[in-house]
Amino acid sequence: MKIEEKSIEEGFESNGYPHRVITEDGVEVFIRPVRPDDADMLRALFKSLSPQSIYFRFFAPIKDFPDHILERFVRINEDYEIALTALDQCGKMLGMACVVILKDRIHAEFGILVGDAWQGKGVGAELLLRCLILAKRKQVHVVWGKVLPENTKMLALGQKLGFTKKRASDANEYELTIDLRSLHV
Ligand SMILES: CC(C)(COP(=O)(O)OP(=O)(O)OC[C@H]1O[C@@H](n2cnc3c(N)ncnc32)[C@H](O)[C@@H]1OP(=O)(O)O)[C@@H](O)C(=O)NCCC(=O)NCCS
Repeated sequence: MKIEEKSIEEGFESNGYPHRVITEDGVEVFIRPVRPDDADMLRALFKSLSPQSIYFRFFAPIKDFPDHILERFVRINEDYEIALTALDQCGKMLGMACVVILKDRIHAEFGILVGDAWQGKGVGAELLLRCLILAKRKQVHVVWGKVLPENTKMLALGQKLGFTKKRASDANEYELTIDLRSLHV
């Protein structure tokens, strides 16, 4: 899937959310913005994660997510944050992705997480693609994120969506960057 191949109309229905998506791997998911009442589902998703997924997402071996951290993820300030979640047909949270817009309003950082059981089925690609489309609508120019070198899934996903990969000069990490101005969505 190339991001250019998806129009905004394809990505979002005019009547809003949740939007039903069949991933390239044939998994049915429902994508909608994250809401404050998602905290319990997010806690359950975090608890289900393997140590590796936690490390890949947070760059630290976090064992516990206190309420104030969970709240931070689900209380979205729409002025400068985009956060989408993917749910299964029973409403269970499978993953979430976010984009945080920086003070200059044209740069933003992404973060993404898919539950281990759902990885490699196209859920991450759908979530991140939709976050990028929304970021472009908010006039963001460049979206970037840090990725550990051993995180082959995220590096592959970035390549698939058109991110460029650069080794960060001062750390053992890659930076994935995408210029939304060159995307025709
Ligand atoms: C990284 C992550 C978000 C990717 O989401 P995902 O749902 O697993 O990815 P997708 O299924 O959409 O796959 C996208 C691409 O990744 C690659 N990929 C998928 N599974 C893979 C695997 N097991 N090994 C290597 N690459 C893989 C493929 O290139 C795939 O494209 P394809 O459809 O052409 O095969 C998810 O694995 C995850 O949450 N990991 C832990 C947290 C994390 O690393 N976050 C990123 C740092 S912020």
